[in-house]
Amino acid sequence: MDIFVNNLLFTYLPHIAMAIFWFGVITRIVKTSQSLQAESSQFLSKKGQRWGGNLFHYGIIMVFVGHFVGLFTPESLYHLIMTTATKRTLALTLGGIFGIAAVVGITILFIRRRRDVRLRINGKPQDILLLLLLLFEMLLGISSIFITATSSVENYAALGIWAQKVVTFQPDAGAIIAGHSIIYKLHIVTGLLIFMIFPYTKLMHMFVMPISYFLRSSYQLVRSGFRRL
Ligand code: HEM
Repeated sequence: MDIFVNNLLFTYLPHIAMAIFWFGVITRIVKTSQSLQAESSQFLSKKGQRWGGNLFHYGIIMVFVGHFVGLFTPESLYHLIMTTATKRTLALTLGGIFGIAAVVGITILFIRRRRDVRLRINGKPQDILLLLLLLFEMLLGISSIFITATSSVENYAALGIWAQKVVTFQPDAGAIIAGHSIIYKLHIVTGLLIFMIFPYTKLMHMFVMPISYFLRSSYQLVRSGFRRL
């Protein structure tokens, strides 16, 4: 990949994406917090919602914890208890289990939306697009596991070094992964895209923790426009 494009995507884009993410999150919470919701479709059809929803949510939450711990724990810290090779084995095993759980869950949710007539009629195109984007991202993530498993330990360690250089504003961050597989690169760019659109989608419901329901002033959210069969 051209040095300029590589720098643009893996040194600068992460900062641009984070700026858009936090600007969007803060302005949405300040300006429109009363309308933040997951737009749950559970009351339209319960079929597949429990299994699909649980597998997806538990899977993706664990994947995010794994991303955070895996990418941002400095080598000097985790070397106190394990080698990089052990950390890689742990990441591949746990990432594989929870990543596949999330993919199975989101596939059930997708099929549910396509099969159920009530959901098909009332569903919005952006719901389907978001599910497909998340599925695409997760499939890229799982494919990257195979590359991590079959390449050198240094190849794996570089991913953490890159992430830590990004958050500490090091200008040579992108160069660390310049020679990495296109699968990792596509996964990272798609991930950054998801961060950028996050505040403007129903993903924002993540910020509406159950506790905030008790703290918010009482109001009734009325949705109109549901079509009857
Ligand atoms: C810019 C943000 C992101 C970065 C830098 C990133 C980075 C990575 C890396 C380096 C891996 C490979 C780990 C390995 O081989 O052991 C991975 C795997 C994975 N990623 Fe991401 N990712 C990002 C965003 C996302 C998002 C938004 C999702 C979900 C929608 C996601 C889902 C996955 C999954 C399911 C895997 C495989 C399981 C795992 O290793 O945890 N990633 N990611």
